Amino acid sequence: MRCPLAVRYTPGMLDKLKEMEQSGLAELAKASSAEALESWRIKYLGAKGALKAVMPLLKDVVKELKPAVGAKLNEIKNALETGYEERKAALGASGNAAAASTGPFIDVTEPGIPQGLGRRHVITRTIDEITEVFARMGFSVATGPEVEDEFHNFTALNIAEDHPARDATDNFYMGATGAVGNLLLRSQTSTIQIRTMEKTKPPLKVIACGRVYRPDTHDATHYSMFHQVEGLYVDRNVSMVDLKTTLLQFAKAYFGPGTEVRTRPSFFPFTEPSAEVDMKMKVKGEYKWVELGGCGMVDPNVFQAVGYDPEEWTGFAFGLGIERIAMRKYGIGDIRWLFENDVRFLRQF
Ligand code: FA5
Repeated sequence: MRCPLAVRYTPGMLDKLKEMEQSGLAELAKASSAEALESWRIKYLGAKGALKAVMPLLKDVVKELKPAVGAKLNEIKNALETGYEERKAALGASGNAAAASTGPFIDVTEPGIPQGLGRRHVITRTIDEITEVFARMGFSVATGPEVEDEFHNFTALNIAEDHPARDATDNFYMGATGAVGNLLLRSQTSTIQIRTMEKTKPPLKVIACGRVYRPDTHDATHYSMFHQVEGLYVDRNVSMVDLKTTLLQFAKAYFGPGTEVRTRPSFFPFTEPSAEVDMKMKVKGEYKWVELGGCGMVDPNVFQAVGYDPEEWTGFAFGLGIERIAMRKYGIGDIRWLFENDVRFLRQF
């Protein structure tokens, strides 16, 4: 008697189906790219795939078992198809597993969420720009502390013991007035002249940008904390011509070729002769003289204080207000806006 295939095949077929389901789902979990997923689909769900291959065997199953085997087949088919759809969605548009693990489908054509990028404060930017211009003229950068002693802020700068610049009302002293070794917030970057000469042999050519502090009443052009750029050039035979040329070169490079520089006689204890520096530049379409700082030839007493021979060495120094420079450059009408930290103002620069 002919032994029907069905009788022999039925138990084998159920095993085969279970095995196919297990290996199919295991391989599906490993498919981590669009290409791997497509290969899987062809292998299991394709026209010549594993699922299609077992279908014809159903007809050989004994009649009594056909419903059970048919149901199992359907169950496996659904499991593989659902698994495939889920995996496809998880891989997302980019079709890779990293995207699948980090989140849902990302539509790259959607307008992005703007990132609030930070930027340099306009004063920092001005300092960088000034530094770059002077670097092109051969000046290197020097620094010094903001909390200073009286020697560096006054004495070495030839400022007499009874000079009004030392007054408690004109400075931020840290200790009681007249206390020995009293410290203060530096009132000018000229302190860096001294600190640089103390540790460097001449010749030297430096600029120093930094914060200075004075108890000035706040108004449109004054603040109690502001920034200065100090310049110091020491060499043999340095003259006022070198000083004026340097300031003029800076003014033309920074504010534009039409800028002029004027020096007016003035007095600073640490320079002789001394002058105020004005620059003529375009302000609201009109050329105007604007005072930016002080300058002069280094006083021999200052050289002596740092151990330089004033018979051999000569030098010039200048100190300009950075806020004033930034205000002119960027058309800022009030110094106080620079420190209010209003991002609507700051993001314009
Ligand atoms: C000085 O501070 C000298 N150390 C400059 C100097 C250096 C002279 C080297 C000679 C040689 P003066 O006090 O004038 O100078 O200040 C220089 C500049 O700082 C001023 O022209 C101004 O632009 C700026 N400035 C002064 N006070 C304030 C303030 N309260 N707020 C904003 N800027 C100020």
